[in-house]
Amino acid sequence: MIKIAFFDAKPYDKIWFDKCSDRFDMKIKYYDSKLTDDTAYMAKDCDAVCAFVNDTINKDTILTLEKIGIKLIAMRCAGYNNIDLKAAYGKMHIVRVPAYSPYAVAEHGIGMLLCLNRKLHKAYIRTRDYNFSLNGMTGFDLFGKTVGIVGTGKIGRVFADICRGFGMKIIAYDPYPSDERLEYVDFDYLCRNSDIISLHCPLTRENTHLVNKNSIEKMKDGVCIINTSRGALIDSDALIDGLKSGKIGNAALDVYEEEGDVFFEDMSEEVDRDEKLAILLSMPNVIITSHQAFLTNEALENIAEITLDNIKSYFDGEKIKNEIFYKMPT
Ligand code: NAI
Repeated sequence: MIKIAFFDAKPYDKIWFDKCSDRFDMKIKYYDSKLTDDTAYMAKDCDAVCAFVNDTINKDTILTLEKIGIKLIAMRCAGYNNIDLKAAYGKMHIVRVPAYSPYAVAEHGIGMLLCLNRKLHKAYIRTRDYNFSLNGMTGFDLFGKTVGIVGTGKIGRVFADICRGFGMKIIAYDPYPSDERLEYVDFDYLCRNSDIISLHCPLTRENTHLVNKNSIEKMKDGVCIINTSRGALIDSDALIDGLKSGKIGNAALDVYEEEGDVFFEDMSEEVDRDEKLAILLSMPNVIITSHQAFLTNEALENIAEITLDNIKSYFDGEKIKNEIFYKMPT
């Protein structure tokens, strides 16, 4: 029976992975700890490792995994920016779940946009306090507004479909345009012409801090920025400055560049808080969710099913499913 060391395990993961693991004849050892160079040794009696978005899969982690005989890292997510691919080259096979529910992520992004624009987060608290005043609650119609979508892969395209339903004008930036129904523009044009900008591209070395002081200056006054992709696509300092000056009207963030030690955990008793995150959370025109855009039953079931199937394909000696292929990075 294949044994899997499952790091950063949460109750909602266990529900779906336990349901699927019997069918795949696999045993899963769940660990609450994240996978890091300190915890990697915990996989020593296992055949494979299952990891998630905020695990630290750096050179030392990979060397320890190699030393204890692990040859397969199964990411139960789409992104893999937290893996040192250079260190993994030739040592580890890495599989991932490239698509599990683009609807989950796109719908969450739209949910955040609606909430922020129509101040639902404030209304919820206000009416519970028996305060029925409408002062400060004015939003804007989405109909007729221009949304700029950065990255038109699976999630970006679903996001575009939903925006189309609202009667919005859609422009998109993607170095590899793939949807003939979309009007593709360069990033500069997108910044200058969008009322709402939504990020749906992977994080790479090249596009780290894509939203920065320079690009924010080009944006329309009062622009609304939505990020359900990866935190480091946005320079948090520049975002805070833009919000303070009023250049940015609203920001909806499901991800944050320093989320690694905070998101997915109950940090309510912590007093030593990340200052930038605390500033953002204090702003009335910002909403932050804890990297939860993926969190639907459908997505979790697909993640469990595809992750275990990826692992099975490796141990069955078949063509490995959903393997990440990469050139030796320079
Ligand atoms: P995908 O691979 O289907 O599409 C990504 C698109 O981005 C591609 O069309 C690609 O050409 C484009 N792209 C690459 N570099 C770009 C750049 N510099 N600027 C603009 N576009 C660029 O990926 P998918 O499934 O649509 O996911 C998008 C991202 O969403 C993932 O990379 C991940 O970071 C994030 N994500 C977040 C989740 C959450 O829970 N918040 C869950 C799942 C994914």
